[in-house]
Amino acid sequence: MNKLANRLECVDAGTEYCPCYLAELNECIVCSQLQGKKFCDCNWRGVCIFQEFVWAGYKAKATRSTVFSKVVKREEINDEVIVLTLKVPNKMARDLNEPGSFVFIRGYLSPSFFDTPMSVMWADEVEGIIKIAVQVTGPKTKLIANAKEGQEVYIRGPYWNGMFGHRYIKGTHNSKALVVLRGIAQAPGVIVILKLIQNKNKVIVLLDKGKVKANFIKEYLEKFDITFIETDLLTEEGQRILKEFIKDKEITVVYSGGSDEQHLNILEYLDTYNSEAYLAVSNNNKICCGEGICGSCEIEIEGQKMRTCKVQVDIRKALERKMLRG
Ligand code: FES
Repeated sequence: MNKLANRLECVDAGTEYCPCYLAELNECIVCSQLQGKKFCDCNWRGVCIFQEFVWAGYKAKATRSTVFSKVVKREEINDEVIVLTLKVPNKMARDLNEPGSFVFIRGYLSPSFFDTPMSVMWADEVEGIIKIAVQVTGPKTKLIANAKEGQEVYIRGPYWNGMFGHRYIKGTHNSKALVVLRGIAQAPGVIVILKLIQNKNKVIVLLDKGKVKANFIKEYLEKFDITFIETDLLTEEGQRILKEFIKDKEITVVYSGGSDEQHLNILEYLDTYNSEAYLAVSNNNKICCGEGICGSCEIEIEGQKMRTCKVQVDIRKALERKMLRG
């Protein structure tokens, strides 16, 4: 790894899944000693990863388990989207009730390379269920979407780096938040909204059907005590509404769930009209293993390589890099 790697923020640091395989390989994202260096230099967050590694017998701690999960309910929203309710262990449901949560899912007859990352839309730890929304885009999602009620699928998790800017969503209390959701990215937006409500924030949601042609989280939003507006963000009217809300200086955090173009659009309005507000965004990078091993999610910012399935990247820098590459 490169010389700046010890200053990166790993979403798993300090959790029961830390230290991970990367520590065994001297590739830890956070700990300088577990990068093979002789000195201690990390962004200390209350847990010494090196000490944890020693206590674990110089091995990775718990690894994510793959469980059998029954399809409790299958709802066909339209030709584009299917919502699956899946039975999972109660602890897994609790762990997944966090912004940015996702799991890997595949049919029980499919080999492991069919594993597909899916954002968690809803998690109920008491009932031990999660809900995911599947947009059929290729062979893997087609197989998942074909799962019938009563059938079983494989689920691996929990994973959390489905968004960048966790700290802004978790750390904003008693304030006002704007949540902009478009297309299939509506799904992870539900748990983001819930977290903001729990933190006693006033929440405004802009909802755009996008390519999936349905506002499939509307039933949740109607139950929450929030304002939500259905619009088309690609129209002049949609842009006017978005701009008006961003101009509201009481809004201190914005979450964008959608494409990188949408994130950029919002970032530009923030720069112009409300530069004090924080931005959190959905992580749109290609995720394959989810464990920081395969490198398919890797991006490079200012010469520093980052595996975005684990690292909480600087949103502005990540988007600017995108902009430069066009
Ligand atoms: S998805 Fe494999 S390293 Fe990130």
